[in-house]
Amino acid sequence: MEKIVSLSKRRGLIFQSSEIYGGLNGFWDYGPLGAELKRNIKERWWRSMTQLRDDVVGLDASIIMHPKIWEASGHTSTFSDLMVDCLLTKKRFRADQIEPQSGTAYFYTGASDAAAGKESKDAFSALIAAGKHADYARKVARQFYQQRGIENPELQGERTEEVRNTTRYNPENGSLLTEPRPFNLMLKTYVGPVESADNLSYLRPETAQAIFVQFKSALEVSRQRVPFGICQVGKAFRNEINPRNFTFRSREFEQMELEFFIRPDEVVQKLAGSVAALSDAQPSTLNPQPNWGWELWHKYWVEQRIRWYESIGLGRDTLVEYWQKKEELAHYAKATVDILFKFPFGTQELEGIAARGDFDLTQHQKFSGKSMEYFDEEAKAKYVPHVIEPSAGVDRLALALICNAYCEDQAPDEKGKLETRVVMRFHPRIAPIKVAVFPLLKNKPELVKKAKEVRELLRPHMSVFYDEAGAIGRRYRRQDEAGTPFGVTIDFDTLGEQGPELRDTVTLRDRDTMKQERVKIADLAPMLLEKIQ
Ligand code: GAP
Repeated sequence: MEKIVSLSKRRGLIFQSSEIYGGLNGFWDYGPLGAELKRNIKERWWRSMTQLRDDVVGLDASIIMHPKIWEASGHTSTFSDLMVDCLLTKKRFRADQIEPQSGTAYFYTGASDAAAGKESKDAFSALIAAGKHADYARKVARQFYQQRGIENPELQGERTEEVRNTTRYNPENGSLLTEPRPFNLMLKTYVGPVESADNLSYLRPETAQAIFVQFKSALEVSRQRVPFGICQVGKAFRNEINPRNFTFRSREFEQMELEFFIRPDEVVQKLAGSVAALSDAQPSTLNPQPNWGWELWHKYWVEQRIRWYESIGLGRDTLVEYWQKKEELAHYAKATVDILFKFPFGTQELEGIAARGDFDLTQHQKFSGKSMEYFDEEAKAKYVPHVIEPSAGVDRLALALICNAYCEDQAPDEKGKLETRVVMRFHPRIAPIKVAVFPLLKNKPELVKKAKEVRELLRPHMSVFYDEAGAIGRRYRRQDEAGTPFGVTIDFDTLGEQGPELRDTVTLRDRDTMKQERVKIADLAPMLLEKIQ
């Protein structure tokens, strides 16, 4: 990860937000290459979800919405993580992220400073690893009492206990933690000129709820019929207790969410005579059928999403399809599959695909008093549709793609000596720059002129980077590090100096194999377009 973080900064993929002011934990900026990468991800997702399908439409909703939405969705009451604070440093942790520890716990009933006539009756304890001297625990305890105004604390009531696999102590300093308590993750703000409880609002913690509340409007204007979906890409905010692993857990991030509305199983049963079972239909989960209930639609979306990840270069061997166990499911979910990616820091979630039943629409119907029912012409029935929700994070995916692309291999330098090359093997479809154009020499006006013509020829179709500075080998290396899949070099053959048969041809270099082939300028655009589309 260290190499990846440093390359991200060096090459302008990801910068720390507000860096010149010391940064802001959990917030990130995307540099020139990162911004292109993120755009490519979102555009490909949007295209695959909406433009290449008949049954999904898009939405672009506001970030701040009516606060009642978050009451209806359950976020105000339940969108929280258990947190604990270190009694010594006040540092806050997510309770479930404290590694279990074993050792000797030292307990104190209080401390006093007779000379100053001061005393504290606050109980405290500190954990030290087996074999460590008691003074370590006493030092931590003294610091605790010093913070309570006892300058020279004499510890009182010391007793010890061997403990195993406890999560009650700060792993960084051994201090006791507070009892776990819930911490709501929604970021608050006030709408309007008065900071009153009436004006309290939230930055959305997910994009999904806007889709549910606009379900009826989007349905009416798009003249879709169930089954159909509404999707959205946009920012979401969560006041994460412990942002970590680079951009993996951030406080501001982007989501790409689809809410796919389906018939309840009873309606499918009535219409089709039976509901297809998950086990019946393995080979046909790519072709929706009228007898599909929620289980098959759910499986269908899991498969669609994995195929999409494959299409942008995340092979199945880098992903894990994790079916949540019954006890792990959110209260409204019938089933959830997490698509995990093998990050260098562990195998972690990229996307969740949940079968949410009719929970959300029913809640909004209840809280808004507006009907969320749909009249199904074919079934001659009115019902609240059920939902399958594939919900992915743009930033997590960008990080996965960066981790997946990072590679070091050996390549010859200008003198033919092998050196270590850092190459970002981005799939051409999501690579920030698709092609780099190089005149072999910058001091030959004919080469430069031709190279600029080639750049103009390719520019309307793809992102092109023109580079004439430095030795050609060095220019290749720079583009390898940026993950540019193709390099086009304009040389003297292009000008026809070695004979007319090579006139208006260029060398096309492949980033991964470093192989070069001779290609006609006229063939370049269609050839590259085929690889990047
Ligand atoms: N509407 C369902 C929902 O929001 P989620 O599992 O909480 O479900 C969906 O979030 C996706 O959003 C995750 O799989 C992840 O990719 C992304 N995500 C969630 N929290 C994030 C965070 N703090 N930082 C970056 N991405 C996050």
